[in-house]
Amino acid sequence: MVAFSGAHVVVTGGTGALGSAVVAALRAAGAECHVTNFVAAELDSFAHKGDPRVHVTGGLDLADEAAVRRYYEGLPPLWASVHLAGGFAMAPVVEISAADFEAQFRMNALSCFLCSAAAVRSIRSRQGAGKGGRIVNVSARPALEPRLGAGMTAYAASKAAVAALTQALGEELVGEEIWVNAVAPSILDTPANRAAMPGAAHERWVAPAAAAGLIAFLASPDNRATRGAVIPLYGGS
Ligand SMILES: NC(=O)c1ccc[n+]([C@@H]2O[C@H](COP(=O)([O-])OP(=O)(O)OC[C@H]3O[C@@H](n4cnc5c(N)ncnc54)[C@H](OP(=O)(O)O)[C@@H]3O)[C@@H](O)[C@H]2O)c1
Repeated sequence: MVAFSGAHVVVTGGTGALGSAVVAALRAAGAECHVTNFVAAELDSFAHKGDPRVHVTGGLDLADEAAVRRYYEGLPPLWASVHLAGGFAMAPVVEISAADFEAQFRMNALSCFLCSAAAVRSIRSRQGAGKGGRIVNVSARPALEPRLGAGMTAYAASKAAVAALTQALGEELVGEEIWVNAVAPSILDTPANRAAMPGAAHERWVAPAAAAGLIAFLASPDNRATRGAVIPLYGGS
């Protein structure tokens, strides 16, 4: 069992499918969660909205540098920041416009970059509470196996950027014991994926709760040594 003892943790995209599971795992381990939400509709089905230790901030575009800075500066000093915000798009290369490509980078890579930088400032401000902190990002399988990115080149490139950012930043922060890691899921067993692929072998997909357990561990003080990793999360798929 990991233990946060009331430490403050940001979860971007925390009202999404994986996000709800991650918030559940973090709350079970005693973290105080600060969750971002972009499109309010997702809040209707958010399982943790009545929890006084889950603080939701809505309408926040994580690709907006000034908004991200303001958000993190308004929070108590953080122990960890978990960056789940992102999204998928697929199309043949000739059908991807510059705007589409940029949109994937803003959603997946830029949001992760801006939140990581803001998180480092916040973690450093935790004066007197000891060294250290954690950042966890979400990449994707095509970042580790780029040939699987055929038909989704913008997505694969943007998630590869998340993987590279994770490893570069993990090295940059090593002296401060701010461990930076990422997970790289194949396919999560979410309602959206079931609706998009009704005939697939859902039992082979990765359960959000299983992914959340690993993410919560990586974000926790109990992760004493793992850093700079982009961990495959493929289940049986
Ligand atoms: N599902 C999979 O099979 C799979 C596989 C590999 C990797 N992943 C990655 O895992 C993460 C979570 O996936 P999921 O399935 O839980 O997706 P999800 O339910 O769509 O959750 C993603 C969250 O990111 C938020 N978001 C996207 N762009 C944003 C922005 N610019 N500013 C603020 N919030 C933004 C979304 O907010 P709104 O809905 O309010 O816009 C949503 O809450 C994503 O990074 C995804 O790429 C998922």
